[in-house]
Formats: sequence, structure tokens, C-alpha cells
Amino acid sequence: MTIQWFPGHMGKALEQIEDLIKRIDVVIEVLDARLPVSSSNHKLAALRRNKPWIKVLNKHDLADPVVTKAWVRDFEQQTGVRALPLSAKKHADTKQLIRLCQGLAPKRGKPGFPVRTMVVGIPNVGKSTLINTLAGKSMARVGDRPAVTTTTQQIDLRNGIVLSDTPGVLWPDMSDQNGAYRLAASGAIGDNAMDSATVGLFAGEYLLRRYPELLKARYGLQALPGSSHDLIEAIGRRLGCLTGGGEVDLNRASEAFLRELRAGKIGRISLEEPALTPAVAVVE
Ligand code: G4P
Repeated sequence: MTIQWFPGHMGKALEQIEDLIKRIDVVIEVLDARLPVSSSNHKLAALRRNKPWIKVLNKHDLADPVVTKAWVRDFEQQTGVRALPLSAKKHADTKQLIRLCQGLAPKRGKPGFPVRTMVVGIPNVGKSTLINTLAGKSMARVGDRPAVTTTTQQIDLRNGIVLSDTPGVLWPDMSDQNGAYRLAASGAIGDNAMDSATVGLFAGEYLLRRYPELLKARYGLQALPGSSHDLIEAIGRRLGCLTGGGEVDLNRASEAFLRELRAGKIGRISLEEPALTPAVAVVE
């Protein structure tokens, strides 16, 4: 079963980024720390023009910290790339980003010469949350609605940094089905675009292999189920997702399991690792 999700056209967004990047000192690419390759837009690397590039590994609070560390090491092997795990909801975390931007553009950050930054990333990685936390208020983004094309919003953070919020939508690469399943498991793809039971089985299989102890602890399992199907069934029974006849409703059980996974209730979980999903090489 494939995921029925068809990303829209994004030529315009890439063109706008390509144009804007010439006047930018530091690019801030927001990724989901739980799946930093699958939540990236692979076409961005080609637009880089050797600009300092920060990969924000957002939703760090939900990701496996050991795996995130490995991602930081992996990404920072690329010339000019810095990787910063953070939670965009936490003001203290975003201060580190400010310091990093200032450090990467030491000649700027003076009155009249702000560090010009740009925030890019696919929908749902936390761009608006980050911008709002940085700006200290709620700014309405328009970029994630495909029908709306606007000019770039510029936000003066009043600390020597100006943020450009790029209009247009950047979509993830949906040609890789495993990547698409990871995105679906993370909640980045609307639930009506997928079959929850299939995504639940996919996530269950990964967690059985990679995070068995967390599963046991969360669902009070004495022994680990032998298959993803058995796992979802055990979770469904535990959470009371039953049909009128007392059978486990696999769809509801999967939905409940995915909700728990996305909310971090099972634990801090990463859905991909550098050894298995190497970072895409940056085109210099
Ligand atoms: P976008 O602009 O890139 O599309 O993403 P946006 O900021 O709208 O964030 C998408 C979802 O991710 C939001 O949840 C947001 O709260 C959540 N989020 C963003 N950053 C973090 C983070 O660092 N940690 C965690 N745990 N979640 C984060 P939502 O459920 O869609 O909205 P809401 O109910 O929180 O308002």
C-alpha cells in the first residue's frame, strides 16, 4: 500500500529561495530531528552558494538524544554546515541559534548591517513555531498554503538579526516510500493521505527492532510480540480499541499507537539513523 500524497508544484518556491539566498548571510534549514533526512528537501542543497548553513534539528525533545548526536556529527562533516538540535518551543534553546548565526557572520550584526538569515523547510517541521519563539510573538505564516503566493516576510528580531520567512511550499521527497512512511509516522503527512493501519505496522516494526524496551515499558508487555501486527493488537487491547464483538480494531489501535508515538508518550524516538540513512551530500 503506497501513501497517496501528491506534493504540489514547488518550482516557484525554489526560484524564490535561489533569488533570496544571494542576499542572505546564514541559511537556517529546519528539519525534524526524528527524521532529518526524510524531512529535508533534497533540492535545497543545490541552491547553497557556499552560504553558511545551519541545520536545525527541531523537536529534539521528541527525538532519541543519542541518535541526534550522531546526526550532528554526520551533518557537520559537510563543509560550512552546522547542526543544532533544539526545541523551537523553548526560548532558551532558540537563543543558541541566535548565537550561532552571529558567530557565522562575524562581520555583520552591527547597527545597519544585521545578520540576514532565511528560514526554510518542509511543512510541519516547526518553522512557524521557531519564528514565533525567536520573534517573541505570534506571527502568521502564509507559506504553507500552496495557493497563496506572497512576498517574503522580513522580521527584525532587534538583536542584530533579520529573518526572512520564505513564501511558497517546499515539499519532501516522496519518491522514497520508506521516507514517506517515516514522514507519515511522524505526523508530517495529513492522516487522510494514508492508511493508518499500514503506517502503524511500519512504525511498529521499526520500534520492535530499535526500541523494544520502551514498548515493553509503555504497554506493560512481559514479552515482546513476535510481529508488528501482534504488537498493534496488544496495544489495541491495552488501550481498549475494540470492536463491538470484542476483537481489536486494528485501525483504531494503529491510530492510537501513532498518536502516542507522535506525542512522545512512548519515549524519545528517532525514526532514522545516519548509518542507515546517510545525509544527502551537499552540492558545493
Ligand atoms: P511549520 O511552520 O514548519 O509547518 O510547523 P509548525 O511551526 O506549524 O509546527 C508543526 C507542529 O509541530 C505543531 O504542532 C507544533 O506545535 C509542533 N512543534 C514545533 N516545534 C516543536 C518542538 O520543538 N517540539 C515539539 N514537541 N513540537 C513542536 P501541532 O500539533 O500541529 O500544533 P499545536 O497543537 O502545537 O498548535
